[in-house]
Amino acid sequence: MQEITNNIYYVGVNDRNKALFEGLWPLPNGVSYNSYLIVDEKVCLVDTVEVDFFVPFIERIREVIGDRQIDYLVINHMEPDHSGSIGLIKKYYPGLKIVGNSKTFDMMKGFYGIADGTHLVKEGDTLSLGSRELRFAMIPMVHWPETMVTFDTSAGALFSGDAFGCFGALNGGLVDSQINCDEFWLEMVRYYSNIVGKYGTPVQNALKKLSGLQINYICSTHGPVWHENIDRVVKLYDRMSRYETDPGLVICYGTMYGNTERAAEVVAAAASRAGLKDIVMYNVSKTHHSYIIRDVFRYRGLIVGAPTYNAGLYHEMEVLLSELAGKDIKNHCMGWFGSYAWAGKAVAKIKEWNDTRLHYEAVGTPVEIRQSLDAATHAACEALGRDMARRLLG
Ligand code: FEO
Repeated sequence: MQEITNNIYYVGVNDRNKALFEGLWPLPNGVSYNSYLIVDEKVCLVDTVEVDFFVPFIERIREVIGDRQIDYLVINHMEPDHSGSIGLIKKYYPGLKIVGNSKTFDMMKGFYGIADGTHLVKEGDTLSLGSRELRFAMIPMVHWPETMVTFDTSAGALFSGDAFGCFGALNGGLVDSQINCDEFWLEMVRYYSNIVGKYGTPVQNALKKLSGLQINYICSTHGPVWHENIDRVVKLYDRMSRYETDPGLVICYGTMYGNTERAAEVVAAAASRAGLKDIVMYNVSKTHHSYIIRDVFRYRGLIVGAPTYNAGLYHEMEVLLSELAGKDIKNHCMGWFGSYAWAGKAVAKIKEWNDTRLHYEAVGTPVEIRQSLDAATHAACEALGRDMARRLLG
């Protein structure tokens, strides 16, 4: 039984088995589905867990409350990693009231066919559990339209849904003050950028709405409970949702036989010689795109290079650019280069992506390489790296 504070218990689970979160994002350190039980005159469960983990979930709940009934189930977020056990929990506790907003209930009917036993809340509504009160605030699009947060006013505990969450299972300890959090910081950026990154403006709106609360604990649905690091976590989310970055450079490339890769090395060396220290390089076919997207959220500069393939752009680069375009990332600089064996298309295609979807500030002169680097294209790649470094360093 793991109490966080003031009769708030952790009843979540760890998933160390799933390879890809949402079928898309690698989980090298697993992920936790966090759920919390507030034990007062009334018993309130906040969110559930993915249905595959129902057995350890119900065991944890019974360890805390024994044969007591659950009076309320608050659903802050309907994505099935948190709502998946609603149906089974309702079977175990048929008298509980499900607390949510009108969008929650619309989704709950669609996903699970459940429409009865509900308690509707709106912005600012409160719910008494006896000695404490819960207050509800809507934070739409962080991460779905129905998303809300629940604030326990006496404990100062914010049940924040996906907001302030991160990848990584919990290895024993739950609260940041009990654990070494080093591994979680970059995973928070990867989680945010890939899962929530498109919704910078809604995250800003949510942060403004929550800024007046005296928060002692942030109990999100993934990763550690934040207590000692609340200021750092909120600042990180604020910075990422404003697309604020460091003057660093992500160079990513596709390559079939090494010619495009050699050009990427020339670009990187020139950027380094121009004084840029933070440079990361990725082969887009080898490194999962989620890590590249993470670093695009950390660094302002992006240079992409790829071969021409099937009279178009190398497939893996096409996919990456499509993923980046889906995030609506702002305040970035981009340069590019491409290669071909007999008919060049890659450079034009990358430009088309930027003109029509990415809208990053174009930096430097694109380089088009026929077959392999020669003296002219080598110098052009150097110029591209140098120009980007100068632009980033101001
Ligand atoms: Fe962890 Fe948007 O669900």
